[in-house]
Amino acid sequence: MSTGVGTRPFLEWVKGEIIMKHISYNEKTKVFKLHTKNSVYQMQVRDYDTLAHLYFGADIGDSDASHRIISLDRGFSGNPYEAGDDRTFSLDVLPQEYSGYGNGDYRINALEVTHEDGSDAIHLRYESYQMTEGKYSLKGLPCMFGNAEEAETLEIVLYDRITNLKVHLLYGVFYDLDVITRSVRIENKGDRTVTIQRAMSMEMDYPNKHMDLIHFYGRHSMERLTERLPLYHGVQSVESKRGMSSHQHNPFVILCDRGTSEKHGDCYGFALAYSGNFRCEIEVDQMEQARLVIGIHPYHFSFRLNTGDVFETPEVIMAYSSEGLSGLSHIYHDAYRSNLIRSKYVTAPRPILVNNWEATYFNFDEEKLYNIAKNAKEIGLDMFVLDDGWFGKRDTDYSGLGDWVVNESKIKGGLPHLVSRIKALGMKFGLWIEPEMVSEDSDLYRNHPDWILRIPQRNMTRSRHQLNLDITRKEVRDYVMAQIFRVLDSCGADYVKWDMNRSVANVYSSALPSERQGEVFHRYMLGVYEMMEQLVTRYPDLLFENCAGGGGRFDAGMLYYSPQIWCSDNTDAIDRLKIQYGTSFGYPISTMGAHVSVCPNHQTGRTTPFETRAVVASAGTFGFELDLEHLTPEEREMAQKQIQEYKKIEHLVQTGDYYRLSDPFRNDDYVIWQFVSKDKKETVVNGVQLRNEPNPHIHLIYLDGLLPQEHYEDLATGSVYTGAALMKAGIPLPVGKGDYQPIQFHFIKTDKH
Ligand code: GLA
Repeated sequence: MSTGVGTRPFLEWVKGEIIMKHISYNEKTKVFKLHTKNSVYQMQVRDYDTLAHLYFGADIGDSDASHRIISLDRGFSGNPYEAGDDRTFSLDVLPQEYSGYGNGDYRINALEVTHEDGSDAIHLRYESYQMTEGKYSLKGLPCMFGNAEEAETLEIVLYDRITNLKVHLLYGVFYDLDVITRSVRIENKGDRTVTIQRAMSMEMDYPNKHMDLIHFYGRHSMERLTERLPLYHGVQSVESKRGMSSHQHNPFVILCDRGTSEKHGDCYGFALAYSGNFRCEIEVDQMEQARLVIGIHPYHFSFRLNTGDVFETPEVIMAYSSEGLSGLSHIYHDAYRSNLIRSKYVTAPRPILVNNWEATYFNFDEEKLYNIAKNAKEIGLDMFVLDDGWFGKRDTDYSGLGDWVVNESKIKGGLPHLVSRIKALGMKFGLWIEPEMVSEDSDLYRNHPDWILRIPQRNMTRSRHQLNLDITRKEVRDYVMAQIFRVLDSCGADYVKWDMNRSVANVYSSALPSERQGEVFHRYMLGVYEMMEQLVTRYPDLLFENCAGGGGRFDAGMLYYSPQIWCSDNTDAIDRLKIQYGTSFGYPISTMGAHVSVCPNHQTGRTTPFETRAVVASAGTFGFELDLEHLTPEEREMAQKQIQEYKKIEHLVQTGDYYRLSDPFRNDDYVIWQFVSKDKKETVVNGVQLRNEPNPHIHLIYLDGLLPQEHYEDLATGSVYTGAALMKAGIPLPVGKGDYQPIQFHFIKTDKH
């Protein structure tokens, strides 16, 4: 065994430990510790150079947790050869940091490979470590960033003696944020090709199974609903095989104690910063231990590493909270706002927009668009966004994708002309694009029929009558982006909405040899990220919104490029209560695109009050998506007021702490949530009263996050309450006047008593 040495000047010896500020290694006990403000993560190099996982959770002082591992002779759990007569050492039961397949550990493994001779065992042993200031980065993949003040990196090298495959476990430690990131760099240092079959981004072994899994499932137009299930024997999984993180599952999961609630209890979050196929598996084994792995889905995945080649896994952003699910959400919200989202808009006021999609669909001309923009200006909006239908022969969704040239039969005089008129109103301008796709009825497809993903000799699976471009190919990426840049340059767009409206299928690239077809899904994602990187590099001031048929790629990976994501194609205010509630567990409120749309709602046919729609859209990146020309005078006045109201609370949405005060999956009477400013001087409680009842109950609601001794004034009534009264005695909801009524309270800290 060789031990690496940290490279930084302030790396010191303290009582036998080599330490950085928040990472330590004890040479005697061989224990690594990673410290965040409220958690500690421990690993130990044990017998036969095996890297064992010891503990992740609340700080336990200077103890190490090696006492938790008890070795016993276990039937049918084999022993490595070098253990000799010791039948108590078995990889089948030992908690490990990153396990390989084929060495007597029959649980789900983090790493599986095949070798040139057809064998597939891999045995990872500890080799060395290195500590550095600042956060590691990944090539071509989204990940958190952090300078020397914000983060430290621990890199532990494991290796396989036979093949000399090196596995670098990367840990990014963000002390103040209470976050640890993980990723894995696999390097072929041997002289034979190794093919990766599964390379999870991390593994986490827990000594017992008494936890619940919370995950976020759904479908198009109904994304990120919540489900909480106890862990059970066998394997549970949450996953996507659609080439996108998907509407159906989300690459963010929570494990928590059975008793954990919003306010109390231990919980652990695992967020994969990746927008393609993923799998999170949790296995409860024969010893009642739980193992979680999360990373790229092994389905249709393999990656060949020739000598010298390197493969990096996507990053997992991991957090522990002892303060319940709210505490965990606050960690993610703060971490993403400060060290994941790169846009200047992350905490800055964003232009409030009107989008023409639900107003016109494909049916518009330049006068129609101009009129929407003009009305938008009159009611106080900041930006007009031109959605689908402005390019090529795009009169329906059967044609035009790929031809990023303005459709002059709809927009006479061209885009620059229309945009200059809109900008002359004092409005900003935004544009919809869908760069990863092509319609069969398009010049792009006619000229380059081989530029799509397509399995030889087989018919394509169509979806929305469009096909996935083979953006694993650089020439395809460069061609598409050049066309899009030409358009954006010509009109000086302030905003872009990047859409992706089908799952990936027909997964085969004619540009790759047969033995590399397992790389297509991942290379597709690397292609998407490269295109997005080009976009944000070229236009650093652009407001960039992601979208995939609404929230089909709502993940931490996308937030590295865009500060907001269209949350769902469902704009119905009542359905949005569940969608936005689920999304809030793992993602900041300011990342959720949310618009006021027309009623009866286009997706559900439901009618809700105009004000209620605004209150729900205010819990996100507020905007409008309806034909403003058709507002009644009363609605126009209300819209004006709502825009002003939103501007008053926008700073809380962007930078405040968010509390879920009720659970829409359990409460049929009302749904409420609360924003509290970081200095706790201001709070807003918003929500919707779902049902009006005759002879009604009085519902008391209990606020959170305030200073108990301080006084707060209700801005609507002038009444003053202590923080303790608002949190412990509660306040009554207004008695309803009908179904779906809005709830709005705004309190400011006051010296009045
Ligand atoms: C997707 C988006 C919508 C709209 C349409 C246009 O469904 O989520 O907001 O942009 O595409 O085709």
